[in-house]
Amino acid sequence: MKIGIIADIHGNAEALLAVLRELENIEPIFCLGDIVGYGADPVFCIDKMREMDCWCLKGNHEGGLTGELELHDFNDYARQALLWTREQLNEQDYNFLQKLPKRVDIAPDILGVHGSPRHPLWEYILDDDTAEEIFHRFDFKIYFIGHSHVPGYFTYHRDDKVVHYYDATEGAELILDDDHSYIINAGSVGQPRDGNPQACFIIFDTEKGAISIRRISYPVNQAQEKIIKANLPQFLAERLALGI
Ligand SMILES: [Fe+2]
Repeated sequence: MKIGIIADIHGNAEALLAVLRELENIEPIFCLGDIVGYGADPVFCIDKMREMDCWCLKGNHEGGLTGELELHDFNDYARQALLWTREQLNEQDYNFLQKLPKRVDIAPDILGVHGSPRHPLWEYILDDDTAEEIFHRFDFKIYFIGHSHVPGYFTYHRDDKVVHYYDATEGAELILDDDHSYIINAGSVGQPRDGNPQACFIIFDTEKGAISIRRISYPVNQAQEKIIKANLPQFLAERLALGI
């Protein structure tokens, strides 16, 4: 079976459509949170996730909208965009976001969360030390995460207890083995921050144990124009072209 894994769409319809075209005929698709926030098409992205019956998780931006997290804990750009996004959603959209779970069992021994298993909405796993703590404290074979908008993966040798990190700025192909556990970051569909503006997504072939982190171009300028037209902060448009 092939599984699609995406994260951090952030209201970017153009990037989402480009990624979904690549995931055509792949089912199920898991979305690891932050469907909305920053981008100009939050309702379109929520509708698309519902229509496609994707398994969606709550991210910190959904937490900000539903009142679970305080808006003053977000940076200025995120907060301004959340205040704007709040005006776009109807009650049904809120109910959908409110009910999103914070973790999902993608398969036996494979966990999906937005940030980390111990703090699903907020914690970033960015360095070897944090990854090592997660590997020590929990016992899953694979953790799929999002949140940082930076694709890549940590490997952990179960006997040697050694952690390594591999980036996926140009994409990456990974074959799972029995000796390791993995934390795999799906990057971001709609606002990559690793210097590569291309949208990111994962295809996981469960039979082959093969994980493919892929990048794809999309019409960035269209997403930028919508952000400007919506009077969202100009930086949110600029950053899309830079991948920051
Ligand atoms: Fe995000």
